[in-house]
Amino acid sequence: MSLPHKNEEYGTEAYWDTRYEQEADDTSFDWFKTYADVADYIRRLIPSKDARILMLGCGNSKFSEDVGLSFGYGGPVANTTDQMWEDGYKCIVNVDYSPIVIEKMSNRHKDRRPEMTWEVKDVRTLDGLDSSSFDIAIDKGTMDAMMTSSPDVWDPPEQVIKDCTAEVSQVLRVLKQDGIFIYITFGQPHFRKQYLTVQHHEHFYFTLVTFLVEDCLFRVPYHALASQSDVFRDLALLPVAAHKAEGHSDTDPIVLEGIKKEDFQSLMKVLYPMPVTRLPSDGLPATIEEWTSVLKLSKMWGFNCIHEFAIKQLEPMLAERPLDKVALAQDYGVTRWLLPGLLELATRAEPVGSEDVQRLGLDTALKLADVRESRQTTTVPVNWSRTSRSVLGFDYQAETTVVTASGLGALLHAILPTESATYLN
Ligand SMILES: C[S@@+](CC[C@H](N)C(=O)[O-])C[C@H]1O[C@@H](n2cnc3c(N)ncnc32)[C@H](O)[C@@H]1O
Repeated sequence: MSLPHKNEEYGTEAYWDTRYEQEADDTSFDWFKTYADVADYIRRLIPSKDARILMLGCGNSKFSEDVGLSFGYGGPVANTTDQMWEDGYKCIVNVDYSPIVIEKMSNRHKDRRPEMTWEVKDVRTLDGLDSSSFDIAIDKGTMDAMMTSSPDVWDPPEQVIKDCTAEVSQVLRVLKQDGIFIYITFGQPHFRKQYLTVQHHEHFYFTLVTFLVEDCLFRVPYHALASQSDVFRDLALLPVAAHKAEGHSDTDPIVLEGIKKEDFQSLMKVLYPMPVTRLPSDGLPATIEEWTSVLKLSKMWGFNCIHEFAIKQLEPMLAERPLDKVALAQDYGVTRWLLPGLLELATRAEPVGSEDVQRLGLDTALKLADVRESRQTTTVPVNWSRTSRSVLGFDYQAETTVVTASGLGALLHAILPTESATYLN
């Protein structure tokens, strides 16, 4: 057997071709473990002898074949009556990127074990193998060979990461939904596990979370919630992605007590907008009611950017609606709406009525009435042009109401939270 001059050569096709060329046709070598060493695990993991098995980088190992001596690091292994094929697993596709070893192995087995096939394939592409067509994929030492080009296991070069993740994603492609990937390695688990999960895209790989809001299940990407709100970020400390965690499935949702379905739906429309949509209802919220829902929940859960966005969306909608403005400002802490809103209410023509009491509360409504009563009115000349007057068709006696600064100030102080009092100064 030809050993490489440098360890990295194990990661090259040329090394394996040369090695297999130089070896006698009947040479076998099993890396790390023989089938007999791991047969108990295999039988447990693969209860069905009809399972379709893919052997990745088979080399000239005896793992998948039959009776005879095989050689491990400790020398010849005597008990080989339980090789995989002999054990009853007949449907095995063996692949390796060395055409030399594939030819030799095929010649060795084609007559005695016709169900087993030998194919030249690179495990990084697995070209020609159908998706979802294998029950089991086994790698014994092949990914290890691809990793030998890395002098530093803690910090593998980009190419090693690419090769290993390519193999894993191909394995996932060819395995059936409930297929199993068995990886027998010489390496420590912590250096290997990182390759066994294909990379998740930093932006476009979503963990979904299920919420129950009233009688309705919402299943949404978790990331946007956690990145915008401290409340949901703290929830991320819980193992939301774990299979047993609350929120993982429809049968075990996170219950959002006391939240209205419509309110939550409006917030979701802002978090997950569908810019290219055929249905108007799929776009951003459109009505004051919907934006009020967004204002409310964004305040409650600390979605600060969304709260600010909702304020901006509502501003033009509330331009002519001072009562709504003040009521919403009070309810959801929009202090910058209070002063202009109250000023409008204190100077409008209609007196304080039941709707004001209902929306603002009795206390505020009474204070507002006080301010209105104590207001001073004065006639202010307005520079109407002759044209405007004639267009309007009546003789206008301009009058403007001036609310005393002290009266409005007292009202605002009574309404505003303490921390906003500076707003008045
Ligand atoms: C360390 S040997 C293991 C052989 C065998 N699985 C065993 O357990 O004895 C690595 C084998 O993987 C093959 N190999 C390495 N990289 C490969 C790749 N990208 N695609 C297919 N085979 C590859 C080599 O040709 C070699 O036969």
